[in-house]
Amino acid sequence: MASTPTPFVILTGAGISADSRVPTFRGRDGFWNTYRVEELATPQAFNNDPDLVWSFYHWRRERIRSCQPNPAHETVAAIQQTHSAITIITQNVDGLHQAAGSVNTLELHGSLWRMRCCICGNRWEDRKSRTSIPSYPFCGGRARPDVVWFGETLDATLLQAAVEASISAACMLIIGTSGLVYPAASLPGEAQRAGATLIEFNREETTLTPGVDIHIAGRAAETLPRWWAQQRQHQSVSLDEG
Ligand code: OAD
Repeated sequence: MASTPTPFVILTGAGISADSRVPTFRGRDGFWNTYRVEELATPQAFNNDPDLVWSFYHWRRERIRSCQPNPAHETVAAIQQTHSAITIITQNVDGLHQAAGSVNTLELHGSLWRMRCCICGNRWEDRKSRTSIPSYPFCGGRARPDVVWFGETLDATLLQAAVEASISAACMLIIGTSGLVYPAASLPGEAQRAGATLIEFNREETTLTPGVDIHIAGRAAETLPRWWAQQRQHQSVSLDEG
């Protein structure tokens, strides 16, 4: 007997945090318009000039430290509260989903608030302001931000969990991603092939737009809470009618 699908799986990208004043990567005001990815977000860049790469991540951490979740993150957390199996798959490293109260969040590209030892690979949470590269206290190895850099592979277990969540859902909400970075960008296709309806919330059309069932244009901090309020209203009307 086929199992009942989870009502939603939620895939997010930088656009969901744009209204929290976290810069996106592409498009107007995107990071990669100003900075060169290969100088700041690759393992080679860190080998060549660790202090430069560290200063970039220190700057990002300090900038994001004061950012608060916006109504889109809050709505994601509210949607998640309706069903214990709803998974959030995020490409963001800012921690704002958790700050909004979400659980079961797969951080595909890692977290700015975690370090990883370059020698032993151990990870630890670190939210202190650090102007220079810390060392792992136990083996003395140099720390690096526990984020996925270009040219690196994603954690296989996390990716597998993301694929499983995607193919188990009746509907995928795709919020604020350009859909240009793989493998995250392949998840909507996986979900759709397994029968999910795709609903995209984005300020602009993206490479994913032609394949989705519904595209809701605008800022996620406005469109997502409005859409969710409508869903709740429909649900209560149909319950009343039933
Ligand atoms: P991008 O910067 O590529 O795309 C952001 C998307 O958000 C765009 O499609 C915008 O139109 C949309 N957007 C911007 N503001 C919005 C708003 N207020 N409401 C709704 N949509 C909005 O970000 P990602 O798709 O997340 O990877 O980028 C994927 C990955 O590329 C990132 O995780 C990062 C980056 O390089 C790594 O660092 C490994």
